[in-house]
Amino acid sequence: MKPQSDAAGKSLGKVARPGKASQAVAAGGRQAARDQQLAELLRPGQSIALLQHLHILTREGQLNQDSRRKLKQVYHLYQFIETLLRELAQAGPADAAQAAQGLTVADHGAGKSYLGFILYDLFFKHLDQGQVYGIESRSELVEKSRALAAQLGFARMQFLDLTVAESAHSALLPPRIDLVTALHACDSATDDAIAFGLAKQARAFALVPCCQAEAARHLGSNKALMLSRTPLAELWRHPLHTRELGSQITNVLRCLYLEASGYQVTVTELVGWEHSMKNELILARYTGQKKRAAAQRMQQIGEQFGLKDLIDRRFTWRADNS
Ligand SMILES: C[S@@+](CC[C@H](N)C(=O)[O-])C[C@H]1O[C@@H](n2cnc3c(N)ncnc32)[C@H](O)[C@@H]1O
Repeated sequence: MKPQSDAAGKSLGKVARPGKASQAVAAGGRQAARDQQLAELLRPGQSIALLQHLHILTREGQLNQDSRRKLKQVYHLYQFIETLLRELAQAGPADAAQAAQGLTVADHGAGKSYLGFILYDLFFKHLDQGQVYGIESRSELVEKSRALAAQLGFARMQFLDLTVAESAHSALLPPRIDLVTALHACDSATDDAIAFGLAKQARAFALVPCCQAEAARHLGSNKALMLSRTPLAELWRHPLHTRELGSQITNVLRCLYLEASGYQVTVTELVGWEHSMKNELILARYTGQKKRAAAQRMQQIGEQFGLKDLIDRRFTWRADNS
């Protein structure tokens, strides 16, 4: 049977195609909705070019499918760090040199430095002083960050081709740094960032540790002995548990170490940070109250878990972070 046709010869039952004019109106409406979404997400003065470089916005300056969520995650992390920076700004500089240079941030294991760039764009760009240092051991990433900072006119950003450990002794950095960040700095680089912060009398830390293998190696090598000594060793008998417990203990030790060094510590979650399973955010503020109990707890954990050597080597005490 022939399909029925209307007067214009189009098959009945098919949806009539909208004309070009109404397509244009619909497209205009969609664009307006996207512009509105973007306007709601952007902060005043925020660099579109930066968001394009970070692939949060497309080249055309549009939000792509994932960008809305990605931008919200970035803001989620930023808001914790912004709170610390505002507290530090309110407390005022620690000494005359700090007053002259403004707030300083060192971002360790910076990678493409997107954290540093976001901090600069949203916070430092609006100030007339302050410095953001990106420390990264891969020279090609350092070069790219330098080029992007020059392109964006972010003059108070510096990128240093150094390891975290080297940076603690480098003349390219000032003697004091206000805030130390390390976002997924690999393995023990987070510990080096803590050591850097203590050496630089940092007033705050924001750390999101990466996988950590060192404690797991120690737990693994002492396994048989510890199983004969304590039922606690069941916690790391299976290799998967060894790895997980190694990470967990490492972060617990980092928190205790910071508390014993005079910092007040909070641990929170970077909700929705789906790029990585490592979404623990350690925030520390210097109060000057060095908790002796925290140092004792570290020693006790060392004994109970057979990690004494590791703890003594990793977490050295400084008397002068005052
Ligand atoms: C997983 S990436 C994270 C990059 C960035 N912080 C982010 O979250 O997107 C870790 C970065 O730390 C760098 N890195 C690892 N160990 C380091 C060390 N000891 N000193 C300096 N950079 C290090 C790596 O080269 C890499 O770029």
